Amino acid sequence: MDFSEKDSVDAVTASFADTPDPRLAEVMDSLVRHLHGFLREVRPSIAEWEQGIEFLTAIGQKCDDHRQEFILLSDVLGASMLVETMEASRQAQDATASTVLGPFHVVRSPERALGDTIDSVGTGEACLIEGVVTAPDGTPVPGARIDVWQADDHGFYDVQVPDDQPLGNGRGLFTADDDGRFWFRSIVPAHYPIPTDGPVGALLRASQRHPYRPAHVHFIVEAPGYVPVTTHVFVEGSAYLDSDAVFAVKQSLVREFAPVDDPDEAARLGLPNPFRRARFDVVLQPAAS
Ligand code: BEZ
Ligand code: FE
Repeated sequence: MDFSEKDSVDAVTASFADTPDPRLAEVMDSLVRHLHGFLREVRPSIAEWEQGIEFLTAIGQKCDDHRQEFILLSDVLGASMLVETMEASRQAQDATASTVLGPFHVVRSPERALGDTIDSVGTGEACLIEGVVTAPDGTPVPGARIDVWQADDHGFYDVQVPDDQPLGNGRGLFTADDDGRFWFRSIVPAHYPIPTDGPVGALLRASQRHPYRPAHVHFIVEAPGYVPVTTHVFVEGSAYLDSDAVFAVKQSLVREFAPVDDPDEAARLGLPNPFRRARFDVVLQPAAS
């Protein structure tokens, strides 16, 4: 029988019928049905289909050890946040909300001691970020690992501007103390545009979408016996909290970076006075045993 528009799904799903892995079989069945449905709806010309393939090829070609254009595409399409949100709905509601990983967790954060600064450049407004890692019942999680990374006050990650920032700037891997507490010094991050010099940027321009993300610090917090959480703390009052280019803001993750004018406290913490201070407690869900 000739391949036809009417029977295309049946023909292709039948070709996958012997897939032994049941999850792969389910995924391919759904992918073929939705892809063919999309094509029947959009009815691309061959030239348009080639343009689509060229776009995906350019996405792949833009990727390297420090650049992940596929994650960026997933982010601006809201796919990353949909997957995150569906994963979170399977987990306890009293744990800290998760949000996107983003494409800049591409180098290992330097191990640092509690209280260290993650900023080695020295521009920007100084801040202290502190919190405690607990279980949902408030039990502290001693020794939790807190991996943080952020953009600088101009909105760039170290890997984007290797001539301006040493690798590891804006990053730190901390270990919570015996009471689950952590604290570190940094600078208040700025809002920033996601990278627009690749095919994702071209897509945003063609759609008249802005590329900005509100100011935030990324966190991955993990401890044995708990479900790790990938999240951000957002800076209260930042621009773009209402229109994040990657749809990743959750109100429960927005914190005040409160101005502090206290020379003694600044000296105790090793910060210039005045400075800003944010508290971000993290609640981890116990892993299913
Ligand atoms: C980030 O926050 O690092 C990020 C997330 C999604 C896309 C681009 C950047
Ligand atoms: Fe970021």
